[in-house]
Amino acid sequence: MLDMATTQVKLSVPADRINPIQDMFNAVAPRYDFLNGLLSAGCDRYWRKTAVDELVPVANRLFLDVATGTADIALEIALRDKCQVIGVDFSAAMLALGKNKVSSRNMQSAVQLFPGAAENLPLKSNRFDGAISAFGARNFANINHAIREIHRVLKPDGKIVILEFSFPRNGFLQWLYRLYFEKILPVMGRWVSGHKNAYSYLPDSVGAFPKGEAFASILKEAGFGSVSFKELTFGITTIYTGSKNA
Ligand SMILES: C[S@@+](CC[C@H](N)C(=O)[O-])C[C@H]1O[C@@H](n2cnc3c(N)ncnc32)[C@H](O)[C@@H]1O
Repeated sequence: MLDMATTQVKLSVPADRINPIQDMFNAVAPRYDFLNGLLSAGCDRYWRKTAVDELVPVANRLFLDVATGTADIALEIALRDKCQVIGVDFSAAMLALGKNKVSSRNMQSAVQLFPGAAENLPLKSNRFDGAISAFGARNFANINHAIREIHRVLKPDGKIVILEFSFPRNGFLQWLYRLYFEKILPVMGRWVSGHKNAYSYLPDSVGAFPKGEAFASILKEAGFGSVSFKELTFGITTIYTGSKNA
């Protein structure tokens, strides 16, 4: 069982505080997993597994999954070598689905999920061996602040892994992908989720997110060393990694 007394300090998101992004994820939560698989043609599972590989989970170490959503990353880490994982997210509906998944797999002793905002993590400093966020970072209200928070809760030498959408560099592939991502996906997403804006927000937020060297600079400014990034699936997603300077 995780020792929460040494890990958690306070809950940072009062239940009544809602912002438009929280509101949106609460609304799409029931269709979120299904739409992930459909709209990415199943690639989302490969992207998450590859990101967890980068984290290199080792037995009996403690990991943090920021913006854990329905807990797919947290479960993937916990299944590797009996790791302990804490997941934090500010959407009550996403967390509720995540908790169901964790208990249906009988993984409550390895995975614990808590409400919390990335910009104000409800966690003590220097506690985690590694931290990851998959498709969360582009949603953070203050990305620099959130990355500094992750830095704060990591132990010296602790690893950060950020998985986020990007665009293929190749001109033709980018044109083709953007046709799908910006024109077709929002219509399919609206149709299946029933939410008016969530799946046009997706390409908009990816467009606005700092990519490649720009995001690597944010990691370096927060105090991470050995920062690097690699593209997956022609550059549709990118995995960023770094280590907290000792
Ligand atoms: C696209 S989902 C990704 C969920 C999960 N990591 C995955 O791989 O499927 C983004 C998640 O980030 C959460 N989120 C967005 N901004 C956040 C913030 N500032 N603090 C905490 N969670 C946040 C949302 O509630 C949502 O569950």
